Amino acid sequence: MKKIFLVFLIFISASVVAVEKQPGEYEPKDFSHLIGMQGFSDSLLKMHFTLYHGYVKNTNLLIRLIEESQGYTFGALQRRFGWEFDGMRLHEFYFENLGGKKPFDHSSALNKMLDRDFGSFKKWKEDFIATGLMRGIGWAILYFDPKADRLFNVWINEHDLGHLAGGDLILVMDVWEHAYITEYGLDRAKYIENFFKNIDWDAVSSRFHNAVIRR
Ligand SMILES: [Fe+2]
Repeated sequence: MKKIFLVFLIFISASVVAVEKQPGEYEPKDFSHLIGMQGFSDSLLKMHFTLYHGYVKNTNLLIRLIEESQGYTFGALQRRFGWEFDGMRLHEFYFENLGGKKPFDHSSALNKMLDRDFGSFKKWKEDFIATGLMRGIGWAILYFDPKADRLFNVWINEHDLGHLAGGDLILVMDVWEHAYITEYGLDRAKYIENFFKNIDWDAVSSRFHNAVIRR
């Protein structure tokens, strides 16, 4: 009996060691405050949070595996890192720019730059939506280029292709099918309409403000 108990203790200890957080590891952020958001069911959001947690877990795993690997395996893992990392980070930007209750401030500095670079807020929004409706899986992102002091709507393929080097992410919209298909079927436009109803414009304006003062 004592022997069985000892084996059990060793098993429990090993499990604890296996899940113990390593120094420098990324930790998933808690976005549960978004539950109840209009147009996003609880089950859709919970599934999306679980997917996000997977990217955090795989980012940490890849960091460890890359350190321990060499040769062809090192190359294969190293090439995969940007995909998992961007999958983690883009979801954080996405969830952080949701849950807003206030409309866009048309007297803001961001509105002024949207007017200058796209003609008007309305034209920028049309362009952003058109970007989000492009065929394929990926992200629509409003980027600020600090070198040229201008804004771009950008399509990101999957997670890692198409980013603007040195650019600041201002508004991030997930248009992978998992972000909407259980709620809206193939009607991505309806999902985007509801995404816009829930944008946290304070978070977006704060990113823009920080990007402009850093340039
Ligand atoms: Fe996603």
